[in-house]
Amino acid sequence: MRFDEKVAIVTGAGRGIGRAIALRLAGEGATIVVAEMDRASGEAVAGEVRALGRRSIAVQIDVTAAADRQRMVDETLKSFGKIDILVNNAGVVQVKPPMELTEADWDFVLAVNAKALFFCTQAVVPAMIGAGSGKIVNLASAAAKMGRPPFAHYAASKAAVVSITQTWAVELAPHHINVNCVCPGVVDTKMWDIIDAEMGRYLGLPRGEYMRSRIDQIPLGRVEKPEDVAGVAAFLCSADADYMTGQAINVTGGTMMH
Ligand SMILES: NC(=O)c1ccc[n+]([C@@H]2O[C@H](COP(=O)([O-])OP(=O)(O)OC[C@H]3O[C@@H](n4cnc5c(N)ncnc54)[C@H](O)[C@@H]3O)[C@@H](O)[C@H]2O)c1
Repeated sequence: MRFDEKVAIVTGAGRGIGRAIALRLAGEGATIVVAEMDRASGEAVAGEVRALGRRSIAVQIDVTAAADRQRMVDETLKSFGKIDILVNNAGVVQVKPPMELTEADWDFVLAVNAKALFFCTQAVVPAMIGAGSGKIVNLASAAAKMGRPPFAHYAASKAAVVSITQTWAVELAPHHINVNCVCPGVVDTKMWDIIDAEMGRYLGLPRGEYMRSRIDQIPLGRVEKPEDVAGVAAFLCSADADYMTGQAINVTGGTMMH
């Protein structure tokens, strides 16, 4: 796969899966816009991309803010003239039993993971429609396909990502814009540090024990690395995936098979 001449926006690319996707696309030639809420980590990843010999800028953005989303598009077009790829990766997790969940918790997680993902796409598509092509990859989760009690709102937000992916896939198909999502499992990032700590408290387990129990259930027998997700995301951004749209691809080491 080569992405020479391609311009990609990756949201939440300051660390974890988003960073790995940004570096993977850059490694294969892409220009990268790091659209990240945390200014320092966004700038650091843009620096890593430039160290690979590719062009990159960081745009400090809260994906839930309409003005920020428009600025992300405007700064990308001003700097690089087009948008070929959007990776909607920014996301948040919370661990709370359903009976303790507040409306504020629900609104926060759904706003970042689902609503902002829909509207980031809406902000970017005019440029892609104008160009007559594009690739959009969304970060869903295995949680989209199997709810678990302490992740009620997270799972609902990721099921919404699958649905939003399907809607945009059909809407944008006439413009040769492919929209797919990936469903990772247990990926070794800061997000899982949070899940392990919170689930440990919830279940009364020592640090690392909940994550280990989940890894024990993975047929491929190891934790998922951000790079495992990045490889599949890169494929979906490539011409090899031109005949795929509206799909939700599991990347779970065999844990999820439907
Ligand atoms: N880690 C996993 O096991 C796993 C599994 C399935 C799906 N996912 C999904 O993959 C994506 C990336 O996860 P990760 O594990 O790398 O998470 P992470 O917490 O390590 O990184 C998330 C990044 O998104 C940024 N971000 C958060 N809210 C933002 C906002 N409002 N605007 C802009 N940026 C924001 C954060 O600053 C951070 O850099 C998320 O959508 C997550 O739900 C993760």
